[in-house]
Amino acid sequence: MRLVLLGPPGAGKGTHAQVLSKEFEITHVSTGEMLREALRVSSPLGLEAKQYMDKGELVPDEVVMALVAERLSKPDAAPGFILDGFPRTRRQGEGLDRTLRGLRMPLDLVVYFKTSAEVIVSRLSGRRVCGQCGKNYHVKNFRPKVDGICDVCGRALVQRPDDREETIGHRLEVYEEQTAPLVEYYRKKGLLVEVSGDLDLGPLQAVLAGLFHQKGLLPAKA
Ligand code: AP5
Repeated sequence: MRLVLLGPPGAGKGTHAQVLSKEFEITHVSTGEMLREALRVSSPLGLEAKQYMDKGELVPDEVVMALVAERLSKPDAAPGFILDGFPRTRRQGEGLDRTLRGLRMPLDLVVYFKTSAEVIVSRLSGRRVCGQCGKNYHVKNFRPKVDGICDVCGRALVQRPDDREETIGHRLEVYEEQTAPLVEYYRKKGLLVEVSGDLDLGPLQAVLAGLFHQKGLLPAKA
């Protein structure tokens, strides 16, 4: 299965991509996570990206397009992949089309998580992430077993700098201006399906399972 998860910040793209990549045994490609990893190891790419990410701006198209093209040409992407947070501009969408044409790996589906502003703000302001392994939590929805500590690696949970309330509003503006037009871009290609990102995790997983079943996209173990 070759899938794009599209939607505003906090819609649940990363959370669902993690679940689906396990279920379908396919590669999860998150440009946000790739950039944060580059920052964790203080690479020049990470340090450059930080200037944009902390302000809620998009990293330049050329940078992320090159990252994704390289990642998708690796052997583990051949059986399928889930793109989370990419593409985010029309230019990135067109670049992805070219990359996938070259690899002869057309997209199966683009799932658009339509999400209300109220839900987005509550999810982002309550999100906490592990500073070490990047696992996501939420102060109300998905709490760790011990407050403030990652269940997986035992490190401290932190708030992403771009999840501060003063930055969230700007990220939403950037989304509306630069990313939302991709909804029509993929609708015109006949690839788009819309789900409600407002739903809780379980109900939304059930909606997605029904959708994949209907499209004949089945997990590797099925
Ligand atoms: P990125 O990391 O991609 O951030 P984003 O798109 O803003 O998405 P988020 O990670 O904020 O939200 P999400 O939809 O994944 O939600 P999540 O599942 O975590 O990008 C960060 C930055 O990197 C960008 O601003 C930009 O600077 C740069 N960048 C990345 N890609 C780029 C690109 N292609 N081009 C240019 N720049 C790029 O969920 C959020 C919270 O809600 C969590 O706490 C979770 O536990 C909870 N939650 C999730 N789903 C549910 C649910 N159904 N019910 C209850 N709680 C839920």
